[in-house]
Amino acid sequence: PSKLNKDPHNHYFDLGAARQVPETHAWEGLHEHPVVDGGVGAGEDAVPVVDMQDPHAAEAVARASEQWGAFLLQGHGVPRELLARVEAGIAGMFALPKTDKMRAARQGGDPYGYGLPHIALYFSKTMWSEGYSLSPTNLRPELRKIWPDAGHDYSQFCGVMEEFHKEMRALADKLMELFLVALGLTGPQIAGVEAEHKLTETMSETIHLNWYPKCPDPKRALGMKAHTDSGFFALLMQSQVPGLHLFRHGPPADRWVEVPAVPGALVVNIGDLFQILTNGRFRSVYHRAVVNRDRERISLAYFLGPAANAKVGPLKEVVGGGRPAYRALTWPEYIIVRKEAFANGGADLEFTK
Ligand code: SIN
Ligand code: FE2
Repeated sequence: PSKLNKDPHNHYFDLGAARQVPETHAWEGLHEHPVVDGGVGAGEDAVPVVDMQDPHAAEAVARASEQWGAFLLQGHGVPRELLARVEAGIAGMFALPKTDKMRAARQGGDPYGYGLPHIALYFSKTMWSEGYSLSPTNLRPELRKIWPDAGHDYSQFCGVMEEFHKEMRALADKLMELFLVALGLTGPQIAGVEAEHKLTETMSETIHLNWYPKCPDPKRALGMKAHTDSGFFALLMQSQVPGLHLFRHGPPADRWVEVPAVPGALVVNIGDLFQILTNGRFRSVYHRAVVNRDRERISLAYFLGPAANAKVGPLKEVVGGGRPAYRALTWPEYIIVRKEAFANGGADLEFTK
């Protein structure tokens, strides 16, 4: 606990203007593992691509979810033009003066608002990023904090984000269904799971916006410390600037794979509660984001998870006759488990057994 930042949301300086990386932002051990290109032609390390329009999409989802815990998603139907407007809106929002953004600063344990990434709490070093967490069904009151006069920029940004949210919500439901097919569940089993767990109906959603300013010494700084996401899955929009790294175990060696920036594609990351739901068949992915000397980077993560009070345990349709690999717990209970895991030096699902 002595390592924890006392108030991680209020102590960072103006990163955009920084001429060097101060000690507070200099991380150790960033180069422990090599970084390899996960782009086209990268063989074994080519990040899997799933095209939702492909009749064999479910098989591709199964393979990627078992082996990587992540994939690039194409054929998802979210217009590229909309993604571009979302990105421009986010860039405009983060470009506002610090004093404007600070009006929306997260306090204490607030889930929503402006501030450092939520996991900042667990580390003594500070990440080279700013974030803004939003409840997609309650955008306007939150954003009024930074745009109190509700003028043109406010209406424009809220409008774009609401349009985007509608698309993401529909996509997330389709993707959940695709995951269940990928698990090998039959139509009636999927209907049964839906009826029992109401997976699409009661999911909770969060949008997290990330801004990674240019960094004068990117080898010493880190945009987002390595972690697994806690919920079911995240749909991630990374701008045209790559920076997302996925961890892969050897052989031949443990390594970071850089996800290429594919225009129009979204990245799907599986989270810990989905690993639990699938009894460990689909793996959550350990990932981080790095920063860049010449270009700022924006990302948006749309997180899907269970309703706050829902117990998540391995689906009996997946467990079959065996013994479940994890005990059931709610998302808030899982967050506590994870906090302990971080304090002990790592996030490890063994804790939930
Ligand atoms: C995240 O892990 O949520 C952020 C990843 C990214 O910025 O690409
Ligand atoms: Fe993440």
